[in-house]
Amino acid sequence: MTTVAELSHVHRFASATEPGRPPLLLLHGTGGDENDLLPLGHAIAPGAALLSPRGKVLEGGAPRFFRRLAEGVFDEEDVRRRAHELADFVRDAREVYRLDAPIAVGFSNGANIAAAVLQLRPEILAGAVLLRAMTPLKEASHADLAGKPVIILSGAMDPIAPAEDAARLAAMLKAAGASVDHRVLPAGHGLTEADVNTMRAWLDQR
Ligand code: MLT
Repeated sequence: MTTVAELSHVHRFASATEPGRPPLLLLHGTGGDENDLLPLGHAIAPGAALLSPRGKVLEGGAPRFFRRLAEGVFDEEDVRRRAHELADFVRDAREVYRLDAPIAVGFSNGANIAAAVLQLRPEILAGAVLLRAMTPLKEASHADLAGKPVIILSGAMDPIAPAEDAARLAAMLKAAGASVDHRVLPAGHGLTEADVNTMRAWLDQR
């Protein structure tokens, strides 16, 4: 495991120990950091390379990947700017660490920025696992997501990222050609064992 801060985002990187598995891009939720999702990454894709950046926006000291105006109300101009900035980070990190295009695994705010990267810079990601996602951009994307595998896991009792909002995102990604599996689990905003098992099974097929 190494920690390198020379790229645009503070991040952690874990090298692959099992060749052949796609790398994961781990994107934390509000108030998290680059360390948060590493244990989850190891659990759902043992042996895969893990790239885990910290969001560059601070909300009262809590790191995020883009600015919001209120809970659930996003500053879409910032979403776009930050999605491009994160996409450039991934492009540069792929060169430094010699990585294939990663599958994003994002939780909450991390899922939302992952969805925006998919819509704005689809070539950056090989697919995405979106955990408790919402719709980060109201305008449908013109990106060609043909064949990109995406799984969205919502919580039926989630008051922060309602499943209906994620369903809108699922429809937008599908309309752009992605192969989307949207599941609603008996859960709230927090992740459950069912999330972990579902992600692991889905990633095993990539
Ligand atoms: C967001 O992007 O604001 C999330 O969906 C909610 C959160 O991170 O708290």
